[in-house]
Amino acid sequence: MLSTTVRIVIIIAMLAIVSVVLIVWLVNTSSGLQIPNIELVNGVIIPQIGLGTYQIQDEATAKRIIGEAIDVGYRHIDTAYHYQNEKFIGDKLKDLFDRNVINRDDVFVTTKVWNTFHRKDSVIRGLNESLQALGLKQVDLALIHFPMAFKEDTGEYIPVDSNGLTLDLNVDIYETWQGMEQAYHRGMARSIGVSNFNISQLQHIIKNGFVKPLVNQVEIHPYLTQEPLVDFCHQHNIVVVAYSPIAKANQTLFNEPVLKEIAAKHEKTVAQVIMKWLVQRNIVVIPKTTKKERLIENFNIFDFQLTDTEMRQISGLNKDYRITRFTNARNNPNYPYEWPLASK
Ligand SMILES: NC(=O)c1ccc[n+]([C@@H]2O[C@H](COP(=O)([O-])OP(=O)(O)OC[C@H]3O[C@@H](n4cnc5c(N)ncnc54)[C@H](OP(=O)(O)O)[C@@H]3O)[C@@H](O)[C@H]2O)c1
Repeated sequence: MLSTTVRIVIIIAMLAIVSVVLIVWLVNTSSGLQIPNIELVNGVIIPQIGLGTYQIQDEATAKRIIGEAIDVGYRHIDTAYHYQNEKFIGDKLKDLFDRNVINRDDVFVTTKVWNTFHRKDSVIRGLNESLQALGLKQVDLALIHFPMAFKEDTGEYIPVDSNGLTLDLNVDIYETWQGMEQAYHRGMARSIGVSNFNISQLQHIIKNGFVKPLVNQVEIHPYLTQEPLVDFCHQHNIVVVAYSPIAKANQTLFNEPVLKEIAAKHEKTVAQVIMKWLVQRNIVVIPKTTKKERLIENFNIFDFQLTDTEMRQISGLNKDYRITRFTNARNNPNYPYEWPLASK
């Protein structure tokens, strides 16, 4: 027979062992890279880093990189009707859901309604095509890809005339927004927003719409800092998503001495510093890569902080240099950028 004291010691020892096992388990399960979320004004949560997928059109590459991204910890994927990869992304996600690697609720999927679906009823048609390709009942975020409407049903993504200029339709952006509101109310998207909209176009929708745009996805990087647009969005509770966040790996930008110095100081890469600068501005970033090591690199930016001086130095690189200019749509009544181009 064991004495009471021995029994108590054994119980305490067992409790200690269980606690240690529990702590080790908790540490292991939470040791994956953790990233912050931002809450949209309707309560939907968007992870602050997502995987961009523009120009990933090869089926095997698309499926591989989605699988690797989920493995690394990405829970936000940015696609569009125009990227022609929704089917591959959808098939891979289905595979991951079927194998219980992740649940549908664990991943935030954004798609965008293309310029040839801008009439009110066409928005639903365009979004339906995306949902079918993705194999989803609902996306987490649907955006109007560009404010410009193009001629519908020509069989071309970008219908052009003999001079190469886009064949435009004069559709008020508010009409397109009404189509988005309809899609939202039908549950085709948990949240809706816009992309490539300037301040006056946002004002037009905010003034007339029932649902306010929750997101504006625009080009932002140190050569195009977009302070007035970002300030406007933040003042109106519109979350800003930065596309081309590393300026498509522009080598002049990557070799800017100020960026190299800051990167060296923090023992980070220039790409990581640029993305941190965006994240510290409360902006969501969606870098694109087809390489696993860069997936990890681009994600691994939450163990350092840029100082206010460093933030200002990076913003000081601005030259209003825009990569996505869509110049052949410059005559469209809703062309959103300054024309002729004003680059410092
Ligand atoms: N709404 C819109 O109109 C719009 C327009 C453009 C883009 N987007 C979205 O935004 C996403 C990102 O923008 P983006 O694709 O234009 O450009 P980006 O993310 O700024 O740059 C992508 C380029 O950088 C390279 N790269 C990625 N990580 C790197 C790293 N750590 N170091 C060095 N190079 C790196 C990639 O090459 P590898 O693949 O070889 O790694 C690729 O060539 C798009 O994929 C798309 O989802 C939206």
